[in-house]
Amino acid sequence: MTRKGIILAGGTGSRLYPLTRSVSKQLMPVYDKPMVYYPLTTLMLAGIREILVVTTPHDAGAFRHLLGDGGQWGCRIDYAEQAAPNGIAEALLIARDFLDGAPSALILGDNLFYGQGLSGLLQKAAARDGGATIFGYQVGDPTAYGVIGFDAEGKPASIEEKPARPASRHAVTGLYLYDAIAPDIAASLAPSQRGELEITDVNRHYLERGTLEVERLGRGTTWLDLGTPTALFDAANFVRIVEERQGLKIACPEEIAWRQGFIGDADLEALAAPLEGSEYGAYLHDLLSGAVS
Ligand code: G1P
Repeated sequence: MTRKGIILAGGTGSRLYPLTRSVSKQLMPVYDKPMVYYPLTTLMLAGIREILVVTTPHDAGAFRHLLGDGGQWGCRIDYAEQAAPNGIAEALLIARDFLDGAPSALILGDNLFYGQGLSGLLQKAAARDGGATIFGYQVGDPTAYGVIGFDAEGKPASIEEKPARPASRHAVTGLYLYDAIAPDIAASLAPSQRGELEITDVNRHYLERGTLEVERLGRGTTWLDLGTPTALFDAANFVRIVEERQGLKIACPEEIAWRQGFIGDADLEALAAPLEGSEYGAYLHDLLSGAVS
């Protein structure tokens, strides 16, 4: 069965208050586009075209307004709501009907991935049958993340959520590829001390079954999470610097849909028309004319 995507865009975004008092964190601007475009395009680069966006009840309308049914990008976008921030693993329960027995790719709505070769790595991992694949990334301070410990052969040996004494510097990023049993695993979990269904507990299940793959993202890949004012500001600068220097956009769904062959030239032209007058619209025209390649 074809793998389906889930973007978790719930939560209160309390670390960004007052920014997020009235607007969802995942709709905050990251330089020239809304935050959710970054995880959305990561899924598209992995070749995933059927996507469920899980939002709070309060923000559902705004996401629908922004993303529509996904048809404009050759995708299908559905929506579901997470009533309260009960943890990342709850997204697998909410998505159960949508998945309908398909393998999944769950991505956090505030995670930005960028780097040469990432698309191929994601497609390879997404094509793998059975088990789970998570992505490890070396960070200076792993204590804010899920952390993977490795044995002498470099195989994953432990996985812990926000450990005070981390087993390694390899954080677990917010992108998780699962086989069809993930919702059943999530259903078997009890809430953690912080009252959440922890995705780390789902991953530990796979680890204990011997079916957890860890792909290490190297230093040529950028992984950022965007939950604080500083992180948001830094990410915006990162995107601006790279985009201005290269004249290429990061996480442009119109471009990625077109390059992936999800849509054709006439579709891209039609998407560019209403954006006329913006720098973003001009970029789409430059793609079509071949000025940008
Ligand atoms: C969550 C996960 C954690 C993971 C992180 C990645 O943390 O629980 O394992 O490393 O996302 O962004 P949280 O956002 O709940 O602090």
